[in-house]
Amino acid sequence: MAKKARKVTIVGSGLVGTACAYSMINQSICDEIMMIDRTYDRAVAHALDLSHCMDFTQARTKVSAGRLEDCRDMDVVVLTAGANPKPGQTRLDLLEEAEKITRDIVSRIVAGGFDGVFVVAANPVDIVTYIVREVSGFPRNRVIGTGTSIDSARLKTLLSEVFSIDPRSVNGYAMGEHGESQFVAWSHVTIGGKPLLHILEQHQERFRHVNLDEIAQKTKDAGWEIFTRKGNTQFGIGNALAYIVRSILNDEHKIIAVSAVLEGEYGQAGVCAGVPAIIGDGGIEEVLELNLTWEEQGKFTRSCEILKTAIANLRT
Ligand SMILES: NC(=O)c1ccc[n+]([C@@H]2O[C@H](COP(=O)([O-])OP(=O)(O)OC[C@H]3O[C@@H](n4cnc5c(N)ncnc54)[C@H](O)[C@@H]3O)[C@@H](O)[C@H]2O)c1
Repeated sequence: MAKKARKVTIVGSGLVGTACAYSMINQSICDEIMMIDRTYDRAVAHALDLSHCMDFTQARTKVSAGRLEDCRDMDVVVLTAGANPKPGQTRLDLLEEAEKITRDIVSRIVAGGFDGVFVVAANPVDIVTYIVREVSGFPRNRVIGTGTSIDSARLKTLLSEVFSIDPRSVNGYAMGEHGESQFVAWSHVTIGGKPLLHILEQHQERFRHVNLDEIAQKTKDAGWEIFTRKGNTQFGIGNALAYIVRSILNDEHKIIAVSAVLEGEYGQAGVCAGVPAIIGDGGIEEVLELNLTWEEQGKFTRSCEILKTAIANLRT
């Protein structure tokens, strides 16, 4: 019986793109990966290197190098082409260059006949995701940014250390911008299904040392902590990308905090921001609207306003 091959393109064969490819190969997430880079030799070299993993993996993933115009048959295109902030810059400072790169890449991919799902990691990811939607003209469900998926993972890791619990037994989200204005929706953080705020109230003495503001700040700063030491982050985001792609290709309906184009959810439209969403073979199947507290909703609105201002500045 002929089985349809699951195919993924990764644009940007740098640290994030190759971490994503490596993660997908080791988890047997797809059948074929095409690596693309503006330096073609780099894509070819990584494709060769990655293809030599195969003797040691559970299933074969064919890896090749290709060009933007070759994405017609792909199920997913992952966008990691871009730059990292220089010392003293924020992710938003990358915007001008990112817009140029993204417009060129996306228009060429779409002109080549690609009709699958875009998954975006390039920074500033919320705005790049918005630009991808705009340039591609795709319905909003087929354009997904990694958003606050990585921040949510960092939050769970921090909480797992504080509470001596497996991070996968913690549920909760960082929301809003993947950047300075993100926040933790504490009202929806649970450990083993029990609301964290109830746990703290019930065991005041035992968890007296737990400082939620500090944990939220550490969540936000985690990327910078890595960045100031080695100048990039790659493995966490590589796995986040692979996790999103897996949920699409296997139609898993995982709930992941991704950057989604908002169409009225949380009172927002005309912007992409980190929200929990159900990810399946159609891309974003549904954006979850949590009942945020008044204060959390205020933080979400503020974060979206910052992103909207950045988008508006691009147009002037
Ligand atoms: N969303 C997140 O959480 C997150 C985390 C880490 C990094 N990032 C972002 O991911 C992007 C990549 O980071 P990295 O560390 O892999 O950088 P990198 O410099 O290692 O790799 C980027 C690659 O993109 C390629 N490239 C640039 N312009 C291109 C174009 N027009 N067409 C094809 N290829 C092109 C470069 O040649 C390079 O190989 C950056 O924008 C970075 O800020 C996002």
